[in-house]
Amino acid sequence: MRRKTAILISGRGSNMAALIEAAKDPDYPAEIALVISNRPGAPGLKIARGHGVKTRTIDHRRFETREAFEAEVDKVLETAEIELICLAGFMRILTESFVKRWQDRLINIHPSLLPAFRGVDSQARALAAGVKIAGCTVHFVRPEMDAGPIIAQAAVPVLAGDTEETLAQRVLAAEHKIYPLALRLVASGRARAVGEQVVIDGCAGEGAPLFSPPVE
Ligand code: GRF
Repeated sequence: MRRKTAILISGRGSNMAALIEAAKDPDYPAEIALVISNRPGAPGLKIARGHGVKTRTIDHRRFETREAFEAEVDKVLETAEIELICLAGFMRILTESFVKRWQDRLINIHPSLLPAFRGVDSQARALAAGVKIAGCTVHFVRPEMDAGPIIAQAAVPVLAGDTEETLAQRVLAAEHKIYPLALRLVASGRARAVGEQVVIDGCAGEGAPLFSPPVE
């Protein structure tokens, strides 16, 4: 059985699109059943509909409190029988009670190698810090922002002359690969949180080291 998954967005939805594409494979263990945006004009909504995915807009400005907004989100998720949630550029902070209700069924992507550079402007801060390797992280969500057991990470080199934009592009290309991989691991039951870590069954191979600058 494919796990019914909802994606929460606020904007352009390129990670959402990557997840929708991956889930077109009938062997993929998750089905993207619903996209919810808290912003009525989010470009991702149109993209989702273009792929035939159901969408809902729940404008947070219509609600007096975070709790009231989240109660509506929960209602919509429940009606659609959603089992897993992927946050993909969702720009609302979720309350501790929502996060706890969805513990280990709620995942997020962040454009840095966590725990470095949590929060906004990750790439600008990575450049300012002079790191030679940047990247992205998919993790189970915990109440603390951009924290939680790490499911998968991808690293990219920081190149001479990089700007925030060029680095963000390189990281984003890696995000589009790692998010579908991470959702596959979670939806199939191969990846699960044990304490603060994620255990992945049957993960063979070492992967190649990334040197930055490259070894001559
Ligand atoms: C991505 O960089 C993601 O890591 C961050 O917000 C951005 C969303 O981009 N959480 P998109 O909407 O998926 O294109």
